[in-house]
Amino acid sequence: MKNYVKISNIIKKFNKVITVQGDKSISIRWALMASQAVGKSRAKNLLKSEDVESTLNALKKIGVKVFKNQKYCEIIGKGLNSYNFKNNTTIDAGNSGTLARLILGLLSGYSRSVKIKGDKSLSRRDFSRIIKPLNIFGVKIKSKNNKLPVTLKGTKFLRPIYFDEKKGSAQVKSCIMLASLNTPGITKIKCVNSRDHTERLFKYLKIPLKINKISKKQQVIEVEGKKQYNAFNYNIPGDISSASFFIVLTSLSKNSKIIIKNVNINKSRTGIIDILNKMNANIKIKNNKVINNEPVGDIYVKSSSSLRAINCNSEINSRAIDEFPLIFLLCAKAKGVSFFKNIEELRHKESDRLKVCSDFLKSIGIKVVEKKDSLKIYGNPNLKIEKKFHVKNFMQDHRIFMMSCIAALTLGGEWKINDKNSIKTSFPNFILTLRKLGANII
Ligand code: S3P
Repeated sequence: MKNYVKISNIIKKFNKVITVQGDKSISIRWALMASQAVGKSRAKNLLKSEDVESTLNALKKIGVKVFKNQKYCEIIGKGLNSYNFKNNTTIDAGNSGTLARLILGLLSGYSRSVKIKGDKSLSRRDFSRIIKPLNIFGVKIKSKNNKLPVTLKGTKFLRPIYFDEKKGSAQVKSCIMLASLNTPGITKIKCVNSRDHTERLFKYLKIPLKINKISKKQQVIEVEGKKQYNAFNYNIPGDISSASFFIVLTSLSKNSKIIIKNVNINKSRTGIIDILNKMNANIKIKNNKVINNEPVGDIYVKSSSSLRAINCNSEINSRAIDEFPLIFLLCAKAKGVSFFKNIEELRHKESDRLKVCSDFLKSIGIKVVEKKDSLKIYGNPNLKIEKKFHVKNFMQDHRIFMMSCIAALTLGGEWKINDKNSIKTSFPNFILTLRKLGANII
C-alpha cells in the first residue's frame, strides 16, 4: 500500500458533529495501571493504535493476560510485584516514548534484566531524563549515550527518592510515580507542571498521594508505595491532541462549524484552546462532565476570519506541548508576528519539531526566525499556495504528517505528503474523519 496522500483541493465548507479516537496518554496509563491492579479491569474506547498495541504486547511479554474485542479491552492484574518474565526479556516500545519511559518505572522492582528497544525515531530520543531518577531508586540501567536500547536490572530493595524534575515532562514524572508504587516509604517529586493523568488515576484508585502546590509553575508530589489497589473499569475520553487537527482545520476554513464530542478537556491539555482563542479563534467547550476523575466535554469550533498573532506566555507551553506544529500553522495565517519562547523540548519529540516546523513554514513562504529554544513567525493572512508541494520524510512524525494535511486542506496548492502510515501510532482514523467532513484525499 502506498505510504503517502495527495491533496489538491481546499476543503469545502462543512458543518458536522464528529468524535475522535481515545486519548493516547490515558489509554497507555490505563493499561499499565490495570496490569498490576488486583483483578480484572475493563476499558471502553481504548485507543486502537500502534502505541497502545505496543503497550498491550509489552504487558503480555511480562506475563500479563490481556483480552480484547470490538467493544472493550480487559486486563487481568495480580497486584504489585506480580509480573512473570524470564531474565533477558526484550520489550519493543515501537514509536512510543510514553510506553518506554513509563514501563521502565514499573519494571524497577524486578531483579531480572529487561531490554527495551524502539523504532528509529524513539531510538534517537533522550533517556537520561529517566535513567537519573531510576538510578537513585537503586536501579541499574545500561545504554549507549542514554539512548535506546537500554537494559534495566531493577531491585527488590528500591529506596524512596526525592527528585527535582525541571523539564515539565509528564513522562519523567509518571515514570517516577510508577516506580514509587513498588517502593516502601514516601517518594517525593518536585516538578514543573505537566499533564496530570497519572495523578488523577492514582487518586481515582485511592493510592496514597499528596500534591502540594509550591508556586504557579511547580508542585511537590508525594506517593506512599507498596499499597495494593483494586481492578477498575474505565471509559477513555477522546484525545484532545487528535481533536486539535479539526479545531485548526475549522478555524482556518471558511464558513464552517464543527462539534467534537466527548473530548478530554483536562486543563493540563487544553493550552491550544487558550492560545487559539487569544489569537481570535472561535472555540467553546460545552457539556462539561467528570468521568473517571477526568474532565470531559464537547468542543464547538467556528471558522475565524481575523486571526491575530500571539506573544505566547511560556507558562502555557506544557499544556500545549504536542499541539505546537498546529499552532505554528495557524500563526502562518495570522496578522502580525508571533513569538514562542522556552520551547526547546520540541526538539526532543518524535522528530525535532522546532526545526521541522520552521523548515515547513519557510517552504510555504513564511518568514521565521528559529533559535535554540524560540520561534518567531511572520504571519501572512493572505497566504495561498499555488505550486506543487512534496512533504518528504520528517522522521515519520505522525503529528507533522497530520499538520501537513491540514495545511494542504486550507492553503491550496497540489500536495503530496509522505508517511501516511505514521498516523497508525496515535490516530488511525484521521483520514477517514477528514473524508467525513468532505475532504478530497487520494
Ligand atoms: C506524554 C507526555 C509528553 C507528550 C507525549 C505524551 C505522556 O511528553 O509530548 O506525547 O503521555 O506523558 P513529555 O513528558 O516528554 O513532555
